[in-house]
Amino acid sequence: GAWCTFRQCQSPVLRRGVVYCFVFILLSSLSHVNVAQLASVFGRNRPEGKVLETVGVFETPKQHGKYETGQLFLHGVFGYRGIVLFPWQARLYDRDITPTFSDSNNPESPGAHDSKEVKGKTHTYYQVLIDTRDCPHISQRSQTEAVTFLASHDDSRALYAIPGLDYVSHEDILPYYSAEQVPIQHELFERFLVFNSSKVPPFSAKDTLKAWQEKNHPWLELSDVHRETTENIRVTVIPFYMGMRVAQKSHVYWWRYCIRLENMGSEVVQLRERHWRIFSLSGTLETVRGRGVVGREPVLSKEQPAFQYSSHVSLQAPSGHMWGTFSFERTDGSQFDIRIPPFSLESNKDEKSPPAGYTF
Ligand SMILES: *[C@@H]1O[C@H](CO)[C@@H](O)[C@H](O)[C@H]1NC(C)=O
Repeated sequence: GAWCTFRQCQSPVLRRGVVYCFVFILLSSLSHVNVAQLASVFGRNRPEGKVLETVGVFETPKQHGKYETGQLFLHGVFGYRGIVLFPWQARLYDRDITPTFSDSNNPESPGAHDSKEVKGKTHTYYQVLIDTRDCPHISQRSQTEAVTFLASHDDSRALYAIPGLDYVSHEDILPYYSAEQVPIQHELFERFLVFNSSKVPPFSAKDTLKAWQEKNHPWLELSDVHRETTENIRVTVIPFYMGMRVAQKSHVYWWRYCIRLENMGSEVVQLRERHWRIFSLSGTLETVRGRGVVGREPVLSKEQPAFQYSSHVSLQAPSGHMWGTFSFERTDGSQFDIRIPPFSLESNKDEKSPPAGYTF
């Protein structure tokens, strides 16, 4: 690790020097981080005349093993400060590593969507809290990510949302150390963690965190991650089960799915259209075609290569699956389609014991 100190600097030259210092430290310890992007995050979001803050000391990212509860980090793609609550072991179904052999050049081909051919491998993700001070600056996401779930224990139409709660892949964690006792601002920080100088990292989980983790496990659980790259655009999908609701004597099951788009190449492209196929266990096939995603048509460039959003889907069946394509446009106006890997929508088995809402 090396010191990364944002000092109070009045002169832009000096401040630019500090930003470059920060970038240099990242460069020296990490090669996969998009340095230009981090520089723009930290450079742009400190308006003129504002005091720059001390963040902490970078630590060496772990090649092996897991980060522990209380580990502070910067997000390698979105640049925010956060803290690790606990890990999830997910299955990563990566179609780039295990390509399908049947007509995989045609995005509309059903053969390209035979998920049985892709073997998942274990990958660590972390449940984390996002520092609320950084939320307004996370520009490559449609909104500050929130975990959402339904209250199926009562008749209310309540949708619970826990803002500033995220899932971060192991390689996106840039660990750092800070001597502050409350280094992260989040309403749940002091409910879940307590400063403990006798351990590294110096935070212990409170009993409330363990109780909350157990109680909300079915809604928080991250089990499958799906990934596929077409024409240098990598799509990562993570589905989450949200719960079931009884409406007009039929059962409606809800899922949230989180999508990250990453431009792995240098060409500037813009997302124009989405095209989904949603298949339910009860045999219905729905086709959805529309402009952009969540009301936006994000541009993926070398400076801002990633965009992430979440959306919801419901079925009148306890399971199903969906897949699709995104249409992108190049700067010369030409269009191309990229595949969204197929992923299954599964409801949780322990539906009979839902949490009594979001309480402590
Ligand atoms: C502090 O950490 C030590 C070492 O892990 C542990 O034994 C102790 O219970 C922790 N204290 C609190 C208050 O969590």
